[in-house]
Amino acid sequence: MTLIKIPRGWEISENLVTNETDFKNRRKFIKQLGVLGLSTALIGCMDNKQSLNAQSMPKTPFKSPSANLFPATRNEKYTVSREMTKEIVSSRYNNFYEFTTDKDRVWKLAKDYKTRPWTVEITGEVKNKGTFDIDTLLKKLPMEERIYRFRCVEAWAMTVPWTGIPMKELIKFAEPTTKAKYVRFESFNNPDEAPGQKGLSWYKWPYYEGITIEEANNELTLLGTGIYGKEMPMQHGAPIRLIIPWKYGFKSIKSIVKIEFTDEKPKTFWNDLAPKEYGFTANVNPKVPHPRWSQATERLIGSGERVPTKIYNGYEEFVKELYI
Ligand code: MTE
Repeated sequence: MTLIKIPRGWEISENLVTNETDFKNRRKFIKQLGVLGLSTALIGCMDNKQSLNAQSMPKTPFKSPSANLFPATRNEKYTVSREMTKEIVSSRYNNFYEFTTDKDRVWKLAKDYKTRPWTVEITGEVKNKGTFDIDTLLKKLPMEERIYRFRCVEAWAMTVPWTGIPMKELIKFAEPTTKAKYVRFESFNNPDEAPGQKGLSWYKWPYYEGITIEEANNELTLLGTGIYGKEMPMQHGAPIRLIIPWKYGFKSIKSIVKIEFTDEKPKTFWNDLAPKEYGFTANVNPKVPHPRWSQATERLIGSGERVPTKIYNGYEEFVKELYI
């Protein structure tokens, strides 16, 4: 069957991208911290100046053996009324400290990172333990496209079409035992290829995160494998990352190599570094200010518009039962 491809909104070429304004509190905060190691460590989770010039998207540099699985069919149940963030904006404004703390340089430093061969270890309290080749997993587990809001604790937000595997499908595949109460995720550790891991040595690499088994089983939780109808580019966490749209973005760990089901609450990267700033649960909540960012409003990257923050990032109907 021949498929006729109709270009989607974000695929239409763009000449102009609005510049972003800086958050002025960055330098002040670093001064206040006064501790060089910690201040430098925390810059990464802050909102740097973004200056995007008129540029067109580069051609996809690498096609994996799973490239033919994209674009996946869109599940219209998961959409939002907000305007989609342009690809050129979201793909050049990233948090990925393994490469750099400068949001606008991640894409450049990450673009040649090799994502094949890539394996994901599934371990802990599960029947189906093993180390699985990513392309085998992608073939085995169902993928779909969903439009989600995505909200960083730094109070910026975007709306993007992710492609991913519903986490509950991976859970079915892994067959957790009754002891599995939490899921712990781990990113790659490769300082020779990831300059942030080499240079920012005070971080506890590799990046690690965790959620409860109920959160992992929630229908919204995705293992992201693509964005804008294509394979995930490295700056967004290729080849597989977590996407939890009702939580602050730091929970959505990128470039996962290990998924462990445990009976103990796992430690998490940012919570270990600055427990007063980054909690384990980290649900989006306009009423709970972060010490450095009021969470009452959020800035939409691209347009720069500031809008009120929604409780659970607008996903209350899907998740409120989890927190009663
Ligand atoms: N995962 C890893 N491995 N390393 C990181 O530095 N940053 C987190 C999260 N996942 C991060 C990570 C933060 S703070 C945010 S806001 C999101 O990734 C950003 O995702 P994006 O760049 O795709 O928008």
